[in-house]
Order: sequence, then C-alpha cells, then structure tokens
Amino acid sequence: MPQEVRGVIAPGRDEPVRVETIVIPDPGPGEAVVKIQACGVCHTDLHYKQGGINDEFPFLLGHEAAGVVESVGEGVADVAPGDFVILNWRAVCGRCRACLRGRPWYCFDTHNAEQRMTLTDGTELSPALGIGAFAEKTLVAAGQCTKVDASVSPAVAGLLGCGVMAGIGAAINTGAVGRGDSVAVIGCGGVGDAAIAGSRLAGAAKIIAVDVDDRKLDTARGMGATHTVNSRTTDAVEAIRELTGGFGADVVIEAVGRPETYRQAFYARDLAGTVVLVGVPTPEMKLELPLLDVFGRGGALKSSWYGDCLPSRDFPMLIDLHLQGRLDLGAFVTETIRLDEVEKAFERMHHGDVLRSVVVL
Ligand SMILES: NC(=O)c1ccc[n+]([C@@H]2O[C@H](COP(=O)([O-])OP(=O)(O)OC[C@H]3O[C@@H](n4cnc5c(N)ncnc54)[C@H](O)[C@@H]3O)[C@@H](O)[C@H]2O)c1
Ligand SMILES: [Zn+2]
Ligand SMILES: [Zn+2]
Repeated sequence: MPQEVRGVIAPGRDEPVRVETIVIPDPGPGEAVVKIQACGVCHTDLHYKQGGINDEFPFLLGHEAAGVVESVGEGVADVAPGDFVILNWRAVCGRCRACLRGRPWYCFDTHNAEQRMTLTDGTELSPALGIGAFAEKTLVAAGQCTKVDASVSPAVAGLLGCGVMAGIGAAINTGAVGRGDSVAVIGCGGVGDAAIAGSRLAGAAKIIAVDVDDRKLDTARGMGATHTVNSRTTDAVEAIRELTGGFGADVVIEAVGRPETYRQAFYARDLAGTVVLVGVPTPEMKLELPLLDVFGRGGALKSSWYGDCLPSRDFPMLIDLHLQGRLDLGAFVTETIRLDEVEKAFERMHHGDVLRSVVVL
C-alpha cells in the first residue's frame, strides 16, 4: 500500500518551501523505502529551490540523510529492513564505461528509484539528487543505501551523504592530498571545512583557510586550518603565496562555486599544483583565463563530483574513523531543526550563521 508522509517541497522558482503530504509507493524491483532519521541542509538544496539546477519543480528537497531501511523490493540483496544506512547519490551501475574500467566513482549511469513519489493530487515530485529526504520516508534505489555502523548518531552520519563527503573527498580522492602537502581551501562552509578536515586526515602540513567571514575562519581553525585569510580584506592569492614560501599551495580547493574564487584558486597554487573545483557554479557563470597561463603553470585542473567518492568504500571507513575519534564529524552540526524549519535554515545558511542545520525526525 502506498503511504502518506510529510515532506518538504520547493513548489516553484524562489517560492518558499513548505511541508506537504507526499505519497510513497511500495518499493518496486531494486528499490527501498527508508525511514529518515536525519537530513542535513546543503547549499545544493537552496540551488534547487532557486531554480539553479533545473526547472523540474516541484522538488522534494533534502539529500544528506541517514535512516533505517523499512522495506525493500524484489531482487534487493545488499540491504534489508532494519539496516542503518546513509543515502548516497552515486549508486554505481557496474556496467557503464567508467565502471567497466574499474573507476566506479566516475559512474555515468547511477541509479535512482524508477517509480515517482507524488503529491496527493498525483503531481510527480523531483527528488533532490534522486533522494528527497526532508521527509519522514523516501523511496530510493537500493544501491543508494550504504550500510554503516549503527552506533553513530544519525544527524552526524547523514552528513556524509553529500557535503561533508564532497569536501573530504575533494581533498583525499580528487586532490590526492598527501603527507606534507600544502593545501588552501577557498570557502569554508560545510564543504570547505570538510576539505580542511580531510586534508588534516591525509597529513597535510599546511592548511590555509580562506573565507570572507571571520566566523567561518574561526570554525575552520577548529577543523584543522593552520592559517586563515579573510579575502574581503586581504588579497587571497598573495596571502597564500606568502604563506607557502612565495610559491603557492600544492593543492587549492575551491568550495564556493564562482569564477572569481576559481581564478584565485588557479593563481594561488604552485607550479604543477592541483586545483579542485568542488563548489557548484550556476549556468550563466563564465570563466576566462589566459590560455598561456593554463599551459605554462602545468599541473591539474579538476572538478570533484561528490568528492569522487565510492560510497561502499568511503562511508563505512569515515564512520569508523569518526567513531575512533580521528574525524570529528559532530563539529559540522551547528543545530538540529524540525521539518517545518527548513526555510529558516536556508535564511541562516544565506547569512552564514551555520555550517550545517540538520533536520532530525
Ligand atoms: N561538488 C559536489 O559534489 C558538491 C556537493 C555538495 C555541495 N557542493 C557545493 O559546494 C559549495 C559550498 O557548499 P556549502 O554547503 O559549504 O555552502 P555554504 O554556503 O555553507 O558555504 C559557502 C562558504 O563560502 C564563503 N564564501 C562566499 N563567497 C566567498 C568568496 N568570494 N570568497 C571566499 N569565501 C566565500 C561563505 O562565507 C561560506 O562560508 C556550494 O556551491 C555547493 O553547491 C558541491
Ligand atoms: Zn557505472
Ligand atoms: Zn548536497
């Protein structure tokens, strides 16, 4: 029997989000219904609400979630009812050209549920990143459920489902930060701070945090930044070069998603260094760089989708490191809120008041 639960939808471009009754079908073949326990508010949810991702309104928002599998459809063998899982937006297919070459973290054909969740009048919902977890329950492809140690708090675990994994992975997977490296991170929200925490975990010797907000720089220090730069008052490129013997950082991670901060990242890295773009730009943004500089400075310009993570490999490992006290995921949770407080959480995110607001159900 389809179930009716409460969920947060974005009805149209720039309209306030609201709690509505949504209809969850029974899981079909390869699908699972998950009872959501916690879901973080990510900047990408705000991008959806603003129409910055696509126009497929109404969206069922929320995608950084953890919960318990309630039921599974035919043919599901990897998870079972009662399993504690983190939801992911990279359920790898195993058959695309990336998967077949042994690089499933680039999978080009990731799975989502085939059936659609709807409003009570039958209007189909577009779940954010194929998840839609600002809801009491959601329907996903079973491969979107990654089982982890159930002793972790759901509010903490859910964060690995998007922003925190994206940031940690931007450092350890995409940027391949290693012991002794110098790293600069531009933009210290949840994603940037996770890149800082990931760089610390990987053994970076110098970690320079750049933001326009001093409060964010304070938090970044707690996450592992060894130096901070307020780029509203100081030239970020010059400051990073000065802090790295005049050369620039080995790896610079852009976690804002704007051309001007990308340009800073490009010029703040050492020759042959790596730039990682993890911030998500909007469709109208353009980047102009002298081609001779792109060539002459060498190195690698990479973008990082979801931190090039492989959920089955990375989620359980990072939860274990957290439980051992080696990665403080709890530090990312600024506040826990109710389902009907997501709009307010967007406001606070916009004003830079929070790292992560987490809806707890
Ligand atoms: N690539 C991925 O897979 C992935 C996953 C999740 C989120 N994201 C993206 O990462 C970005 C950051 O997400 P978040 O949740 O941390 O957002 P956030 O709003 O919490 O953080 C953004 C930070 O950037 C700072 N900032 C803004 N303008 C700046 C500037 N000009 N220079 C320096 N700092 C500046 C803000 O003060 C804030 O601290 C967003 O674009 C989001 O969509 C990407
Ligand atoms: Zn694939
Ligand atoms: Zn996200």
